[in-house]
Amino acid sequence: MRILLDVDTGIDDSLALLYLLAAPEAEIVGIASTAGNVAADRVAANNLAWLDICRAPEIEVALGAAAPLAVPLRTTEDTHGPHGVGYAELPPTTRTLSPRSAAELWVDTVRANPGEITGLCTGPLTNLALALRAEPALPRLLRRLVIMGGAFNHPGNTTPTAEWNIHVDPEAAAEVFDAFSGAPQRPLVCGLDITESIEMLPLHLTRLAERAGSTPVETVGPDDPITFRSATSNPIVRHVTDAVRFYFDFHRSYELGYLAHMHDPFAAAVTLDPALAVTRPATVAVELNGALTRGTTVADWTGMWGREPNADIVVGTDPAEFFIRLIERVGDFAQAVYGEES
Ligand code: RIB
Ligand code: CA
Repeated sequence: MRILLDVDTGIDDSLALLYLLAAPEAEIVGIASTAGNVAADRVAANNLAWLDICRAPEIEVALGAAAPLAVPLRTTEDTHGPHGVGYAELPPTTRTLSPRSAAELWVDTVRANPGEITGLCTGPLTNLALALRAEPALPRLLRRLVIMGGAFNHPGNTTPTAEWNIHVDPEAAAEVFDAFSGAPQRPLVCGLDITESIEMLPLHLTRLAERAGSTPVETVGPDDPITFRSATSNPIVRHVTDAVRFYFDFHRSYELGYLAHMHDPFAAAVTLDPALAVTRPATVAVELNGALTRGTTVADWTGMWGREPNADIVVGTDPAEFFIRLIERVGDFAQAVYGEES
């Protein structure tokens, strides 16, 4: 499966990238760096650094727009850390950015590979919207689109009703959902109602280290000093541990428990295997003008608006199965990359 990944790397975006790099059935044809969790240039730097840590082949990383379509950029370092990867300090890399913009990467890639590319968006939809403005045929040139975004019959995580990726750039999200009305395949949409059931726990990190043969096997906890940094031998496991610990601390600070919602790697897993999800078709539109509800994804499940469905919304999954796949795939990948060195 050839995938164009559009991310706002971010802690869980990082795990989505690792999940795809670890997948023998996936080929990442390019990575679009979208402003969201942190600024676009920092997102791009995180992407390049993770590729280095994973000793990945040369994969094109393109820089996205500095700001959303119509509003100033809002970032969330309190959620993802000052650099967007929690407590992790990713080594600098000599890898360089593509000369193409993220929107150009989208347009050029689908034009050159009609019907072959699956798009996975785990950040705001700014650059996909810019690509759609440049190439209105994009929905018909793309094999399929998967989006992590929105919340359906479920509270938001940014406002009482809006989810982060949509709320950062509601105009972009509105243009994307409208443009994919009538697409050959409806976008597969993973909203908070599902992704907040994907709860990573310290035990999962421990199992990841064990699977990767990394030593020592650490068990992180809420009483760890903020200065704690993983000393486990495998660099992929070590940086993931430091990144996810920040996310654990963040969720705990909001009384959600010492856990981390793994929104983006779940969307990556569903991209590779849609059978992991139960979906229902609906027509999705994005509220732009509501004083209280701007950025809210509204789903019409029963045709009240008289419009064809433009989304397959995930309404069910098996979180345990997801974590089995995440630990096996990323753990085996980490061991394969660093094997006896670590
Ligand atoms: O609301 C969760 C989403 O917003 C995730 O993609 C997270 O990385 C942030 O981008
Ligand atoms: Ca994200």
